[in-house]
Amino acid sequence: MASQPANANTILGSFAKGSNDFLFNDHMKVLMEKRDSGFYQTSYIDGKPQQSQRFDIVFGGVKGQTYAYWVSNELFQLPISYITNKHEWLNSPGYAPDKIIFERAIGTKCLDCHASYIKEAPPAIPGFNGNSEGFEKSTLIYSIDCERCHGPAAEHVKFHTENPDEKQAKFIATFKSLTRDQKINMCAICHSGANSHMPKPTFGYKPQDTLTKYMIPSPELDYKHIDVHGNQRGLLESSKCFIGSKMDCSTCHDTHINDRGNTLLYTARCMACHNNDSHNICKLSKQLSPDVLKSNCIACHMPAFASKVIVLEQAGTPVHTHHIAIYPEETQKILAFLKTKSGGASADK
Ligand code: HEC
Ligand code: HEC
Ligand code: HEC
Ligand code: HEC
Ligand code: HEC
Ligand code: HEC
Repeated sequence: MASQPANANTILGSFAKGSNDFLFNDHMKVLMEKRDSGFYQTSYIDGKPQQSQRFDIVFGGVKGQTYAYWVSNELFQLPISYITNKHEWLNSPGYAPDKIIFERAIGTKCLDCHASYIKEAPPAIPGFNGNSEGFEKSTLIYSIDCERCHGPAAEHVKFHTENPDEKQAKFIATFKSLTRDQKINMCAICHSGANSHMPKPTFGYKPQDTLTKYMIPSPELDYKHIDVHGNQRGLLESSKCFIGSKMDCSTCHDTHINDRGNTLLYTARCMACHNNDSHNICKLSKQLSPDVLKSNCIACHMPAFASKVIVLEQAGTPVHTHHIAIYPEETQKILAFLKTKSGGASADK
């Protein structure tokens, strides 16, 4: 769901009368409307329509969505975004509460992490809305495809089509042939925080390349105030689990499968290392029943905190920290919560 063309299936917000507007104040609002030519956001001041732009691209959907529209070959963000767990429209994160903003340019940077390819081009209307970037629209490949992680595959496909009996990969790097750092870079190119610096488009990055030629990770490492653009790499690397083992992202994530919300599966991955045999078990294992313990490793040791970008407007879906550690306050909250419930309920949500 990194990016998709906007349509009735991909836009999650409601266009039903009564829930299709966002009110800034008594004078200003934005209306979300379906027309023959697509879905639109239209600003109104004192009842008079001002600007109207079409939803062209949808970013996200798990925690929230942001939308973009094209003006010629230039891309801009629509004023109103969407928050998934509340099923509500919201003023786009970081926007002033009393201004309807259509002018924020969407540059290569968003697409670097949210798409698989787009070719840059000089902007068709130089200086429009202060924007300096343009694209060849037809070259856009939405979302994250195989080659974003595994690298260019044309030679690989050609070779194995011509040599069906050859079982050894020659033109693609297999995961196990990578060093630990290269394995993590496969994800870190996009998962090191949105404030990462990108000296050139990251579409060309492939396994085994030097990461810093494409991306200098964000220096921010705030354990508690993460957001949808949290620095998972930096946080994980600051954890004792990471320092004391050879883990990489794929120790817990199978990126080919959507495991979101499968707490027991994730816990099983913790317990691959934290089990009786390794004498590396939770200090609370005597105090809590095995079921309660098992359902809540994540809630106590990788607690989810409210997203700092979305929280300003409304509480969005909290984001799990990847700094795996002991959080006494979270433990108190979970223990108090468990007391009010019976049995082995999971406190993760
Ligand atoms: C450095 C890479 C990077 C950049 C740059 C970046 N994003 Fe993201 N974005 C991500 C990742 C990774 C996630 C998912 C993180 C997670 O699930 O915790 C994400 C999440 C999101 C989400 C929420 C998705 C969902 O399903 O809930 C939205 C919306 C979003 N980004 C929009 C943008 C926009 C708009 C821009 C440009 C202004 C941008 N991003 C720039 C990497 C990036
Ligand atoms: C978000 C990154 C990502 C994307 C996208 C992705 N993969 Fe993978 N893939 C991985 C990782 C990580 C592994 C190693 C998993 C492991 O061994 O635990 C892997 C392993 C594999 C393997 C086994 C060979 C090897 O290198 O270990 C094949 C084959 C494969 N992927 C094919 C695909 C195909 C085909 C697609 C597109 C449909 C795809 N992958 C998309 C990350 C990705
Ligand atoms: C090219 C950029 C890119 C790469 C490379 C990438 N991701 Fe992501 N990842 C994203 C974006 C963007 C999102 C948010 C998309 C969405 O909300 O559906 C995301 C979402 C996720 C999520 C959250 C999914 C959910 O439903 O909450 C996980 C977990 C994740 N990525 C793990 C990985 C791992 C592990 C790797 C490396 C093997 C990896 N990603 C490589 C861009 C990337
Ligand atoms: C690849 C093995 C591995 C996996 C998987 C793993 N850990 Fe660890 N973990 C370790 C090692 C090694 C240490 C450090 C032990 C030490 O220093 O004595 C550690 C330490 C910890 C600590 C102590 C942290 C501190 O600051 O004192 C906690 C809590 C923890 N792990 C929880 C988890 C949870 C929860 C998961 C699953 C989300 C998990 N671990 C997954 C290997 C792992
Ligand atoms: C020790 C296990 C572990 C490792 C290693 C790990 N993760 Fe995660 N990750 C989790 C768990 C648990 C969740 C929460 C899953 C859920 O809510 O269903 C999660 C969630 C995420 C999310 C979604 C954030 C959210 O809370 O919505 C992203 C993005 C992500 N991981 C990326 C990564 C990347 C990139 C790496 C490597 C740098 C990585 N993870 C390594 C356990 C791990
Ligand atoms: C109710 C919250 C809670 C749950 C559930 C929980 N832990 Fe813990 N865990 C703690 C606290 C608090 C400590 C520190 C206790 C202390 O130092 O006295 C701790 C300590 C640890 C340690 C460090 C042990 C050491 O010797 O220093 C590890 C490793 C650990 N937990 C792993 C896990 C794993 C794996 C799970 C899931 C099977 C889990 N924990 C479930 C709260 C929890």
